[in-house]
Amino acid sequence: MIWCLFFPAGSRKVCAYFFTCWLVNRSLDMIVTVLYCVGFAIICDAVNRYCKRRLEEKEWTFTQSDFRDGREAGTRQGGRRVAIVTGANSGIGLALVEQLVACGLHVVLACRNVAKAQRAIDTVAERLAGKDHHGSMEILQVDVSSPASCLAAAAEVRKRHPKIGFLFCNAGVVQYGSQRLSLFLQLTSLDRIRTFFNLSRVTPEGPCFIEERPGVVTAEGYGTSFATHVLGHYVLVRQLEQALEAGNGCLVWTGSRGSSNQWIVKGEHLKDPMCVTGDEPYGYTKHLQDTLSVALNREWCARGRCVRSYVGCPGVVLTELPPPALLLLKPIVWAIAFVLPMWRISPQRGAAVLLHLASLKGTPTPAVRHQVREGDGRQAALDKKYVMEFAERVGAAEVGQGHWAATDDEQQWLVGYLEELLSQRGKGGAGAGSAAEGEEEEWKLL
Ligand SMILES: NC(=O)c1ccc[n+]([C@@H]2O[C@H](COP(=O)([O-])OP(=O)(O)OC[C@H]3O[C@@H](n4cnc5c(N)ncnc54)[C@H](OP(=O)(O)O)[C@@H]3O)[C@@H](O)[C@H]2O)c1
Repeated sequence: MIWCLFFPAGSRKVCAYFFTCWLVNRSLDMIVTVLYCVGFAIICDAVNRYCKRRLEEKEWTFTQSDFRDGREAGTRQGGRRVAIVTGANSGIGLALVEQLVACGLHVVLACRNVAKAQRAIDTVAERLAGKDHHGSMEILQVDVSSPASCLAAAAEVRKRHPKIGFLFCNAGVVQYGSQRLSLFLQLTSLDRIRTFFNLSRVTPEGPCFIEERPGVVTAEGYGTSFATHVLGHYVLVRQLEQALEAGNGCLVWTGSRGSSNQWIVKGEHLKDPMCVTGDEPYGYTKHLQDTLSVALNREWCARGRCVRSYVGCPGVVLTELPPPALLLLKPIVWAIAFVLPMWRISPQRGAAVLLHLASLKGTPTPAVRHQVREGDGRQAALDKKYVMEFAERVGAAEVGQGHWAATDDEQQWLVGYLEELLSQRGKGGAGAGSAAEGEEEEWKLL
């Protein structure tokens, strides 16, 4: 204030006085703001450290013994087990590969794009550098939306690996259509928020803002979602069934909460079994995966086979798959995750549920449905015990959860339809154009 005295008396002196007060006030404000920020940063850091410690305590990590052949319990372990992961070059598939390799398995990355698969191998090698593991990787080129490609790939696998421990049916696609962002404004309740992120166009709570693009078919004429999620994987499973049995193996499907039977309830599947004209091919074909898993378990149990099939739901994972509008929210999610790391929706945590199912030991129960639907990746990572208990509860008995329960008729219809489609190959049906000569004979249960 002293410097005000140097001003001549009058209005200029008063102005100088007020300007000085304002300056001091601003400085005080700034100091208080800085102190607040520092305080906030210290609190965030403390919360961060606390959560990280809690997470590390509970982080779901797997060990080599989790993936040992159950028959080898108490004996010296034989050769390394082989795991095949479809869609292994990104997202949940890549996380599966990393964890399996870290546990000493030999992992086959079943990808359609060899260059991407090679990059995935480099990424995993980089992440595991310096860690003591005996895992290894190789690439298998396969387009799971093409039965012809799956047949060729399966033949190649059988040559390379007579015994298979795990087949992760993970590759997946969504054909996004329009996104009605105006529905953002209607997010007034938890139910609406849930609906907003639901892939089904029409849910019990109302319309969803994400629409799928109907009419997308593969070069062979199959509905793309249907061919990718169901048909191609079915070919792989059937062709590798014996190798899986020899390796005391299991199948793990990457299911989804978006699985929906509405297309079937409306009876539309009888007119358009691949849901090419439908508005929710993703939910429908994910439901067919659930149904197929049930049907396969039932058949294998009846035939006394030791192979088993599980469906796991990874929860919402921020990969390339969720709709672009959701990816727009990524910065917000990361901002929250910065303060609370346990909120991170990482592919590793999505993969944890699938790995947990794969690690379940013992001969298969006569159960027909094995699912960890509620144990999403986040919960899995946070509370292993919770998911273990859940899996034990659902693994031992049939779980009929509302519309997810697949009826006997549905199971029979689906397997019959898949078999019919495959036997039509080479006879002028869908996919006929790409069927190689003599392939018809190749399509037999091995
Ligand atoms: N992200 C989620 O929130 C979420 C939730 C529930 C279930 N899921 C399921 O999780 C699985 C993996 O998805 P993600 O989230 O990890 O997404 P992603 O990062 O997009 O991975 C999908 C993978 O599938 C591969 N793929 C797609 N079509 C293929 C084909 N015809 N042949 C061979 N590979 C093909 C992709 O290969 P390219 O790189 O060559 O395209 C990619 O590697 C999917 O089945 C999905 O339905 C995801």
